[in-house]
Amino acid sequence: MRATNPILTVEGLLKRYGKTCALAGVDLHVAPGETVVVTGPSGCGKSTLLRCIVRLAEPDAGRITFESRDIVTLPYLELLEVRRKIGFVFQRFNLIARLSALDNVALPLVAAGMAPGEARERARRALERVGLSGAVACRRPGELSGGEAQRVGIARALAPEPVLMLWDEPTASLDPILVGEVLDVMEDLATARDTAMVIVTHEMRFALRAADRLVLLERGAVAEEGRPEEVFANPRSEIGRKYRRLLQL
Ligand SMILES: Nc1ncnc2c1ncn2[C@@H]1O[C@H](COP(=O)(O)OP(=O)(O)O)[C@@H](O)[C@H]1O
Ligand SMILES: [Mg+2]
Repeated sequence: MRATNPILTVEGLLKRYGKTCALAGVDLHVAPGETVVVTGPSGCGKSTLLRCIVRLAEPDAGRITFESRDIVTLPYLELLEVRRKIGFVFQRFNLIARLSALDNVALPLVAAGMAPGEARERARRALERVGLSGAVACRRPGELSGGEAQRVGIARALAPEPVLMLWDEPTASLDPILVGEVLDVMEDLATARDTAMVIVTHEMRFALRAADRLVLLERGAVAEEGRPEEVFANPRSEIGRKYRRLLQL
């Protein structure tokens, strides 16, 4: 996967919260269909980076270009249009408790103007892609396991057919036994290469299996990046060596 002609470019991204410098000049390039795993210690700016890309957080300086559009200065209505092309999977599922899995996935499509019948059909296909079909699609979030609920969250992000998906620690709030089923779905999507992905996770074995590139963040800056197997074989930074040791446990 070549980094020329990226779908997303982040340059010199800076974000402060009061005296805290959450992002201290981050650069990131993502090619169409590419899977980039971002990791680093708690508080290093991973969530802030993802949030700035869709302007859930407002950057203080730097450039973000998505499909040749300057995200930082984009007027709000155009930003909403851009957000429809970007799927976001959160750590917590944020499903609506009184709606079925199917309707949770279909609702954003209807809100964006799609006819309900077509939206449900799309939702059904998205749920099938994450391994949820038949009776499970009719259940409400309270009747799903954590892994199933997160897969509904993934289907909801997939259904609008985004060209870029952002994942913020999608397995972090799951029981360890349920993590595997979500990682399997993520790996299938990542290796299909039809959607670019930026995945924040601490699952380094997943990074080795599925990522084209691994980005290690530390104190709001990129400490190291490269192909995961190269980063682990020959880490150049202290944090790279730390993550390699974790992987060998
Ligand atoms: N809304 C906020 N208000 C104040 N400080 C914040 C806010 N969001 C994040 N921070 C701070 O910015 C830094 C980076 O946070 P975050 O991006 O959430 O890190 P990570 O996701 O890597 O754990 C941390 O020091 C955090 O406390
Ligand atoms: Mg975070």
